[in-house]
Amino acid sequence: MPTAAATLDLPDFDPADITLNGTAFHDTMHDLAARSWLARIPFGYLTLDREAGEFFLRTRAATFPGQLIAALGGVEDGPLRQEIDRNILHVDGADHQRLRNLLNPSFTPRAADRWRPAMREILASLLDPIRASGSTEFVETIAKPYPSLTIATVMGAPATDAMRLHEWSAWIQRQFDAPSLISQRDRIEQAVVEFYEWCDALIDRRRRSPGDDLISTLIAAEAEGDRLNDVELVNLVLDVLIGGVDTTQSQLAHAMRLFATHPEQWQLLGKDPELVPRAVDEVLRHEPVTPFTARLLVDEVEYRDITFPAGTLVMVCSFTGNRDGTGPAEFDITADRPAGRVMTFGAGIHFCVGANLARAELQEALRLLAVAMPGLRLDGDVVLGTVQGIYGIERLPLAWDTA
Ligand code: HEM
Repeated sequence: MPTAAATLDLPDFDPADITLNGTAFHDTMHDLAARSWLARIPFGYLTLDREAGEFFLRTRAATFPGQLIAALGGVEDGPLRQEIDRNILHVDGADHQRLRNLLNPSFTPRAADRWRPAMREILASLLDPIRASGSTEFVETIAKPYPSLTIATVMGAPATDAMRLHEWSAWIQRQFDAPSLISQRDRIEQAVVEFYEWCDALIDRRRRSPGDDLISTLIAAEAEGDRLNDVELVNLVLDVLIGGVDTTQSQLAHAMRLFATHPEQWQLLGKDPELVPRAVDEVLRHEPVTPFTARLLVDEVEYRDITFPAGTLVMVCSFTGNRDGTGPAEFDITADRPAGRVMTFGAGIHFCVGANLARAELQEALRLLAVAMPGLRLDGDVVLGTVQGIYGIERLPLAWDTA
C-alpha cells in the first residue's frame, strides 16, 4: 500500500529564503541531501537526488507551474499574463512539440558551432579595452554584454540593442520566481510591453529583408502556413532572447569566480585548451545557475511507493542532483566523471533548447580568458545574487598578471 506524501516525516526546507547563497547554500543542500531524497517545502516537496528529479521533470502528469506563480502574484490579465500563458515552458503536448521542432534545428551542436567565430570577435572586443589594466569588475565588462551580444547576433538583432535586451531579459526572467513576481510585477510587465514593441519592429524589418538568422528562419516557418502564427512567432523570439541572456551571464560569472579561487586549475586550463569542454561541464555541475526548477502535478503520481496527489508542487534540485553519482564533490576540472549526468539544463521535453549554444559560449569564453588572464584572482568582495530564479553574481572584481 503506497504512503501518502503528506504523512511522511521529512526534513524541512524553504527555497524562498533569500539569505541562502554561497557556502551557506552549499552546506545546507549537502546536509539536506545526506538526510533524505525528499524534503518538505512550504507549498510542496523538493527532490534531492538525480533519479527522482528527472522522474518529476519527465512525467507527463506534471506541468511547469508558471500559471500558478502568476496567480500567486495576482497576474490575471494584461500583457505579462499573455506572455506567461504563451511562454514555451508553459506549453505542453503537441503544440510544444511543434514549437520545439521549429527551434531545434537552429540549436544543434553544429548550429551552435557556426556562431563560434562571432563569439570570439565579441569576446575580443570586450577584452581589448581592459586586457592591459590587469583588473576589472567582470560582471559589468564581460559577463553582462557577452551573451546579449551573442544572442542578438544569432537572432539577427542589431548589436546596438544588446544592452536593452539584457535589461529586458533580467526583468522578464523574474516571472519564474514567485517572490519577485509579487514584489516587482509592474516593472516586469513594463519590460514585456517594451520587448513586444521592439520585437514587432524587428520582425517587420526581417520580413522585408531576411537574413540567415533565427528570426528569418522562424518567419519562413510562419509563411508555410499553420506551423506558426504571429503570436507564437513573437513569443518564441522572446523565449530564446530572454532565456539565453541572464542564464549564460550568470554561469560565466560563476565559472570565473570558481577559477579565481582555484588558481591551479586556471593555470592548467591556460596550458591545455583541450580541457575546456570538461571545464565547462564541471562549472555547470558544481554551481548550476538554475539550482531549482519546479513542476505542478496535474494527475496523481505514485513514485517510490509514495502517492503525490494532483495539485502538488514538486521542486527539483539540480544542485544536489548534479552531485548524485558523479564522483568527488569538490570542483575539479580533471576529475573523471560519468557523461550526461548534469541536470543544470533540466530534463524531458523542456530540456533547455539553448544548451549547445550556452556550452559553446562558455567554452569560447574560458578558452580565451584562460590565456588572456594568467594568475587570475579575486580583487575585492564578491556580491552574490540569490538562488531563487537564476543564481547570478552582482559584482565580481578580478585581477590577473600583465606581462
Ligand atoms: C548556462 C546557460 C543556461 C542554463 C543553465 C539554462 C537552463 C535551463 C533550464 C533548467 C531549462 C528547463 C527548465 C524546466 O524544465 O523547468 C531551460 C529551458 C529553456 N532554455 Fe535554457 N539555459 C541556459 C541557456 C539558454 C540559452 C543560451 C537559450 C537560448 C538560446 C535558452 C533558452 C531556453 C528555452 C527557450 C527554454 C524552454 C524550453 C522548452 O520549454 O521547451 N537557454 N533552460
